[in-house]
Amino acid sequence: MHTHENLLDGLLKALRYSPQNPPLLHLIGDVMVDMERYEEASSYYREKLTIQPDCLSAKLGLGNAFHGAGRTSEAWVLLEELIASSDPPPETYLLKARLHADEENFDEAQYAYHAAIEAEPLLEDAELEKLVNGVPVKSLDKEGETTFLSKEDDIEAYLEELISPNISFDEVGGMGYVKEEIRQKIILPYKHRNIYESYGKKAGGGILLYGPPGCGKTHIARATAGEMNGNLIPVGIHEILEMWIGKSEKNLHEIFEIARRRTPCVLFFDEADALGSDRSDMKRSGSRYIINQFLSELDGYDAENDDLLILAATNAPWHLDEAFRRPGRFDRIVFVPPPDRDARAAIFEILLRDIENKEDLSYQLLARKTKGFSGADLRSVVDIAKQDKITQVVNNDGKNTPLSQEDLTNAVRKVRPSTKEWLKRAKQYALFANEGGLYNEILEYLKKHPV
Ligand SMILES: Nc1ncnc2c1ncn2[C@@H]1O[C@H](COP(=O)(O)OP(=O)(O)OP(=O)(O)O)[C@@H](O)[C@H]1O
Ligand SMILES: [Mg+2]
Repeated sequence: MHTHENLLDGLLKALRYSPQNPPLLHLIGDVMVDMERYEEASSYYREKLTIQPDCLSAKLGLGNAFHGAGRTSEAWVLLEELIASSDPPPETYLLKARLHADEENFDEAQYAYHAAIEAEPLLEDAELEKLVNGVPVKSLDKEGETTFLSKEDDIEAYLEELISPNISFDEVGGMGYVKEEIRQKIILPYKHRNIYESYGKKAGGGILLYGPPGCGKTHIARATAGEMNGNLIPVGIHEILEMWIGKSEKNLHEIFEIARRRTPCVLFFDEADALGSDRSDMKRSGSRYIINQFLSELDGYDAENDDLLILAATNAPWHLDEAFRRPGRFDRIVFVPPPDRDARAAIFEILLRDIENKEDLSYQLLARKTKGFSGADLRSVVDIAKQDKITQVVNNDGKNTPLSQEDLTNAVRKVRPSTKEWLKRAKQYALFANEGGLYNEILEYLKKHPV
């Protein structure tokens, strides 16, 4: 600070001899911005601008001073003027990045930051770079809501809150085959690593779950983490691609690193199909780098992946890049079908488990009436039945009657089964693009349940 003060002293003295000297006014503004004396800085830039109204760098200085002083809307106005000019200085985009980052518009902030360093590599600024790299984390608790975090500490703190699901396989109805696959490939190798190693079998690789929406993929990922008393880190891939333009690889690595520090940990990649090289979001984000980074993280070239368990899910496996299917990566690709009758009965039982005020219910009967319903559809049925019951009780002077079989069958009529559309689409891929028997499980399923 001392040198700043000395310099400023000298400059102010010089200004006394040469008042209204434009370069001096400008310099004083710059030094004051460095000293975080933003309000004063702005008055020197202003003075310069009254003499040279078209000076872009003074406008930029003023914009920075406004930003520093928290006068955001004035900063925006100047920024727009600068950008509209024919040749704005590259630093203009740094200001833009800062303003966007303040508003937590991290994607815009990144665009701006990269525009700046592309025009002038010397502008690279580690701190600003951190600021613009918001990390998107998908919340599983709040129905897929996405939260963006800008600082590493926040990421850790946020994950702390959400990552220990306390549900187990008991809360997952049906899905026997999927549970078994997860047990064989993920849970047992983790629990008995020594035995596995003594026979030269290494754990590793992940499972990719695919199937119609609402049939329990996300649900079982949480339960897997719960089964191991471990953590779950859910990662929304669309958000990675959207948000981390140019920096996706670095941040993907960061997420793997956080997971490695929190083992046992299930790293759950939702919407994995976004990692298809022919996908438009992939093209937009510019490259195969992110796919390659993902693959090398999976292979654990530079790091230990012990106790790091990897699950991914998608509704559109046909978009997924082929490279993911090689051994050691997502070499198990498991179809999660719509729940069959027994599974539906089990799901009803789970969903109604903690309602005390209910009749003896026949879950099998409900299951019979809900062919083609997904788990999420069944949840809607139960939610509607509860809501209708509450309305009825409230309208009936609070006379409490137990939730009945009839309440539930009435609710069933209000929900449309949602799995058919997906199955029709999948059938096309299974019939016409079934390379390496990838979709044999779908074909098997369709034989028994034609659509
Ligand atoms: N097998 C199941 N057992 C118990 N509940 C289930 C099951 N399948 C689905 N559900 C219920 O339905 C909800 C939606 O399921 P989930 O989010 O896991 O579906 P998904 O397969 O991940 O769907 P999407 O492909 O749309 O992401 C769950 O939160 C859960 O309440
Ligand atoms: Mg899901």
